[in-house]
Amino acid sequence: MHKWLDLENKVVIVTGGASGIGQRMCQSFMEQGAQVVIADLCVQEKMENCLSIRCDVTRKDEVERMVHQVMETFGRIDILVNNAGISIPRLLVDDRSKYELDDTVFDQTINLNVKGSFHCAQACARIMLRQKYGVIVNVSSECGKEGSFAQGIYSASKAAIDSLTRTWAKELSPHGIRVVAIAPGPMEATALFNSAYIDAMCHCRHITKEEMQKNYDTVTLLGREGHLEEIANTVLFLVSNRASFITGTTINVSGGKSRG
Ligand SMILES: NC(=O)c1ccc[n+]([C@@H]2O[C@H](COP(=O)([O-])OP(=O)(O)OC[C@H]3O[C@@H](n4cnc5c(N)ncnc54)[C@H](O)[C@@H]3O)[C@@H](O)[C@H]2O)c1
Repeated sequence: MHKWLDLENKVVIVTGGASGIGQRMCQSFMEQGAQVVIADLCVQEKMENCLSIRCDVTRKDEVERMVHQVMETFGRIDILVNNAGISIPRLLVDDRSKYELDDTVFDQTINLNVKGSFHCAQACARIMLRQKYGVIVNVSSECGKEGSFAQGIYSASKAAIDSLTRTWAKELSPHGIRVVAIAPGPMEATALFNSAYIDAMCHCRHITKEEMQKNYDTVTLLGREGHLEEIANTVLFLVSNRASFITGTTINVSGGKSRG
């Protein structure tokens, strides 16, 4: 597996790598001997083969500073994983006026999920174009394709990510750079599923917390939630040369679930 993926010493930036899916990806990259850069609001403890940089990806200046620091340290960027993202459940119209989509949630979601990915992709692509090599993975969501009840703006942000993936692949493929997206489905709990998220989702969907959990177990064809490691495995394959003919597409990693 180690040699098969051939990721040893590859320089990998993972945004939002301090928690959840991103953290699991970083662990898998480190197991493969890659040089990992965690770009996150939260700085991590020092680890071997891992550089933690505090970076708010919604801020272009902070992304440029982070990329500059990576170049000063390693001299190249092989892989970018645009993983940092948020989901805040909101209805278009909430007759109980508690969880209705407003400009604040709209902007917060688009700024992180879409603009943050744009900032990082642009700064890294400038380097990758000079190298004539690189892979960008954008973390989308299965609900980006079909929409999802009470997740309108989140789903729209992920649809934008799918679309940007296709366009960036068209622009960058002639220069040896691949761009791929992955769309996870219902996953084992991460920090994304905080109490505010669960309360909002239960309110909007008129379900209890128990029903919400049961729903996650039954909506996939495989009858269970996905494991973070299963997302990491897919990403490691996609960034490796084993996936050298895959670009400009979104790969569902959702246990067969395809409707939000
Ligand atoms: N967990 C799921 O079920 C699921 C399903 C489909 C897609 N996804 C996507 O996977 C990605 C990761 O989700 P997760 O569940 O691991 O979330 P998470 O909340 O566990 O982790 C998100 C990380 O992003 C960081 N972050 C937040 N704002 C940031 C900013 N402005 N700049 C830099 N870092 C920032 C956080 O500090 C955190 O470490 C997201 O894009 C999410 O939309 C998750």
